Amino acid sequence: MAIRGLIFDLDGVLVDSARYHFEAWKKLAASLGIDFTLEQNEELKGISRADSLKKIMNWGGLELSDQAFSDAMERKNTWYLELIQGMSPKEALPGSRAFIESAKGTYGLALGSASRNARSILQRVELLSFFDALVDGNDTNRSKPDPQVFQLAAERLGQKPEECVVFEDAVAGVQAAKAAGMRVIGVGAPDVLHQADAVIDGFSGFGPKEMERRLMAV
Ligand code: BG6
Ligand code: MG
Repeated sequence: MAIRGLIFDLDGVLVDSARYHFEAWKKLAASLGIDFTLEQNEELKGISRADSLKKIMNWGGLELSDQAFSDAMERKNTWYLELIQGMSPKEALPGSRAFIESAKGTYGLALGSASRNARSILQRVELLSFFDALVDGNDTNRSKPDPQVFQLAAERLGQKPEECVVFEDAVAGVQAAKAAGMRVIGVGAPDVLHQADAVIDGFSGFGPKEMERRLMAV
């Protein structure tokens, strides 16, 4: 099936923000007396703010009242926003802008992110205007690995799932794309993202032709 739509995750795919999420969650967890590892952090990638906090509480065996829960989410987001305050186009991951520029026009381009900060981040890195459709954490009520975010993105592009390719750095995101019936290119380590149809370590030197070639047999 021909590829007509490209759906991009944001954090860790287009923008170097995954490390800031990690840092802010680490600080929040520490304030609750919980520590977690880089390995556990892989499980937080792609997961909504609320579901991430639930996972951390679970790891620490902690229960919080509704009020303390929403206070904790707000504190994490405040720290995260402080960390990305000075974000500029330099924080777009290497090659991501060039890839998007060369794909524009040939494919419909959509964002499929769990982040509620997605729109303002795309604005800061000056990528917002390239997108034909945006789906973020404000549009969904089910976290990846649920396919909702990508299904909605394909719908907004007016394309069938089989015509779409997803770019993802999170295990949960790769699973969500597969559950949506889409092809998926993992951005990161092949051993972590082994469920993806192909894995790249970033967009440097990677273009739409290479994408078509890598997915030809899939
Ligand atoms: C995802 C990130 O893109 O967005 C997660 O991978 C993050 O780490 C989630 O928790 C929600 O982001 P935000 O900006 O709404 O807190
Ligand atoms: Mg991501």
